[in-house]
Amino acid sequence: MAPPYKRLLEPVLVGDSQLQHRVAMSPMTRLRNHPDLEAPGDLNVLYYSQRSSNGGLIISEGTYPTPDSRGYIRMPGIWSPEQIKAWKRVTDAVHAKGGVIFCQLMPAGRISHSSLLPDGMLPVAPSAVKPSGLVHVKEGKVPYEVPRALELEEIPAEVDKVAASATRAIEAGFDGIELHSGNGYLMQQFLAKETNLRTDEYGGSVENRARFVLEVVDACVKAIGSHRVGIKLQQGVTFSGLVEPEDDSLDQLAYLGPELERRDLAYVCMSSLNYDPYYKFLGLDKPNFETDVFQFFRKHFKGTLMINGGIQPQKAEEYVEEGTCDLVCFAVLFIANANLPQLLAAGQELNMGGWTTSVWYSKDPMDDPKGYTDWPLVEAAL
Ligand SMILES: Cc1cc2nc3c(=O)[nH]c(=O)nc-3n(C[C@H](O)[C@H](O)[C@H](O)COP(=O)(O)O)c2cc1C
Repeated sequence: MAPPYKRLLEPVLVGDSQLQHRVAMSPMTRLRNHPDLEAPGDLNVLYYSQRSSNGGLIISEGTYPTPDSRGYIRMPGIWSPEQIKAWKRVTDAVHAKGGVIFCQLMPAGRISHSSLLPDGMLPVAPSAVKPSGLVHVKEGKVPYEVPRALELEEIPAEVDKVAASATRAIEAGFDGIELHSGNGYLMQQFLAKETNLRTDEYGGSVENRARFVLEVVDACVKAIGSHRVGIKLQQGVTFSGLVEPEDDSLDQLAYLGPELERRDLAYVCMSSLNYDPYYKFLGLDKPNFETDVFQFFRKHFKGTLMINGGIQPQKAEEYVEEGTCDLVCFAVLFIANANLPQLLAAGQELNMGGWTTSVWYSKDPMDDPKGYTDWPLVEAAL
């Protein structure tokens, strides 16, 4: 019998990294980092090592570039020498298994709180638009604040901060970085109409709202080289008041596709949250998606394309086969199936325990392996 996954298990070149298969691990914030150092410790090293495979790509959890871009407690940073040293242990562990790891850089923008930031400063954003809902701070959950709108003259420094953290990620041994331009964080706050009310060259038209994102991409390319830079775009965010898709989301993707293609990046990840369990988890109605965003984006972007979002392995195989994408990244499936690529190669049944959403983020104590590193490991060779 032919193996169920053939194309998914073929090699692919991503930037300068030769991968042996196309089953990547999508970034997942798990909030289990050291609360003072905000850097990975032993448990996190084990977690990433378990999920490494020879020639397999892992994208790290969202990591904040500078102290003033933090979003959550126990989210890791990549700005202090101690954090670089701590991440080096993770990247060494992944490389020891022949794996490849990119660092996801995630400036949070308005999805933060003054008590999480230096000197009680307000979170910054393209415009002073308050997110709906509650933010988790040390004392529990409190309402979000109205962020401070960035002044035009401040924007170049915001761009440079991300690029400097890309350099630090390479110093920490990462093979590249992924810019988080989804999930309603700073970069998507510039892209979305709902959160970007600016009247200068960073607001208004599709092109203007994309300007910040492309400037960050260009600065990172200048800092570490285009083949080490990836970016995650996302359609379908329903998060803290940002509801996607907006009426010109597809126009925006049609604009970003060629712009990113000519920058010759390692990859673009097109992620879609067009699937039921996600909305069930949020207790929300699913917005209306009329288009297969993966096939749509492929028409506008011919570079290395990774896709993500509620994609089951069989469907992933079909997407690769039909040329819609070059590789697929999975998040929830990697929670309880640490060696997902090997399990797919062996045709093994998958553990659906990752949909037990109570294990997604840590409770105290932070070094509790429950639901994180203690899933039974089913041996399977790739
Ligand atoms: C617990 C959890 C944490 C996540 N954290 C991040 C994150 O830090 N950065 C990011 O880009 N996406 C994050 N995501 C979204 C995933 O990377 C992915 O886009 C989404 O889960 C859809 O993929 P899937 O259907 O394969 O799970 C997270 C998802 C989960 C379940």
